[in-house]
Amino acid sequence: MAGIVIVGAQWGDEGKGKVVDLLAEQADLVIRFQGGNNAGHTIVRDGETFKFHLIPSGILHAGKICAIGNGVVVDPEILIGEIEGLRRRGIDMSGLRVSANAHLIMPYHVKLDTEGELRLGKLEIGTTRRGIGPCYADKAARLGIRVQDLLDEKILRTKIMAAMEPKQQMLRPYVKDPDLDLHTMTETYLSYGHRLESHIADTAKLCWETLDGGGTTLFEGAQATMLDLDHGTYPFVTSSNPVAGAACVGAGVGPHDIDEVWGVAKAYATRVGAGPFPTELEDDLGDLIRERGGERGTTTGRDRRTGWIDLVALRYAVRLNTMDALAITKLDVLSGIDPLRVCVRYRHPEGAVFDEFPYHQTILHTATAEYEELPGFEGEIGDCRRESDLPREARGMLEAIADGAGAPVRLVGVGPGRDQVIWMGEEAEHRLRAA
Ligand code: IMP
Repeated sequence: MAGIVIVGAQWGDEGKGKVVDLLAEQADLVIRFQGGNNAGHTIVRDGETFKFHLIPSGILHAGKICAIGNGVVVDPEILIGEIEGLRRRGIDMSGLRVSANAHLIMPYHVKLDTEGELRLGKLEIGTTRRGIGPCYADKAARLGIRVQDLLDEKILRTKIMAAMEPKQQMLRPYVKDPDLDLHTMTETYLSYGHRLESHIADTAKLCWETLDGGGTTLFEGAQATMLDLDHGTYPFVTSSNPVAGAACVGAGVGPHDIDEVWGVAKAYATRVGAGPFPTELEDDLGDLIRERGGERGTTTGRDRRTGWIDLVALRYAVRLNTMDALAITKLDVLSGIDPLRVCVRYRHPEGAVFDEFPYHQTILHTATAEYEELPGFEGEIGDCRRESDLPREARGMLEAIADGAGAPVRLVGVGPGRDQVIWMGEEAEHRLRAA
């Protein structure tokens, strides 16, 4: 039996989809446990690009059971679009399950997300405007509508009415919007229910059965540790908990069911939306990394902010998630950049030095990053498949990351392709033995 959690170790967009896709080969079940269609996972397979927002990245493995857990917020229109899009491309969708307890994003959540951001003006969070925050807020207020409610017209209508009632004032600009008409909404969502019915399931039970039967379950995180509602750079965070601990709640298993935690980080850092980012590069080098790394949001198309890898934040993420292993992606993007830098501490304008992630947000906003410099590497590394194929300086960068973060690097991404990876150290031996 094995329960493996995969989480983002930075600010999201680290390439979790690719790591899940690779580890899914040996898994019996892949389940997403939080977030919604604010996520965007890209997988390149045999030259074909797949983008997922809700469906777990394991779906490309024919017949694999892929579940959307109770902790996810589901926009049914988006989900149906994704199912149909994948089906058209010949992907077998019979393994898809959706938790009956997952909460639904309703049209008013999307409007409230936009409205909330507009009201914040300059203080806006830079959300994906997909209705994520308002949906989780309704869940906590016990005004949420769940996937199972799609199967009961009376309950659905009553719950929509109850949920809309306290929002009248905020929704005033949309009073004539046909999307928010009670009758239209009920009918539309009932029709979604019909289309999703065959996928609706008790996904927690599915996890228990898989684990009890000696199978491997992959718990797929979305967003990332630094966007965690409790542990991230609040309020510039998402409204769920992307840390590994949330896999238990969002999938319905206990802590003893988790055997391993993998964190995914890029060899540099990116962030979308507002909020502190101590290693940000607002210069030509930042632009170069953005360009080379294709750092544009999968979900919103927004340019990502770019910077050096932040080992203070990464060490914090390793601890918060008790990470057993790191997957470092996009190492190839750094080729030709000399010197390379890794952030090893923060310095406050008044001189105080922070080797550990500071708990006070003001420090993070004002601190400057201090770096260790490392020699850069040259040339194309996209064809490297073993650790020893990598230039010495690239290995030096990986060692600096592992030492600074406090977790071993077990997987390295050297290009967008599925095969463009290097299994490292023990993991490489383990995979060779298994082959
Ligand atoms: P929300 O999750 O749409 O409410 O957005 C809150 C913050 O999280 C914003 O800064 C978003 O840019 C960020 N965010 C949400 N989902 C992702 C993601 O999948 N990758 C990167 N950033 C994200």
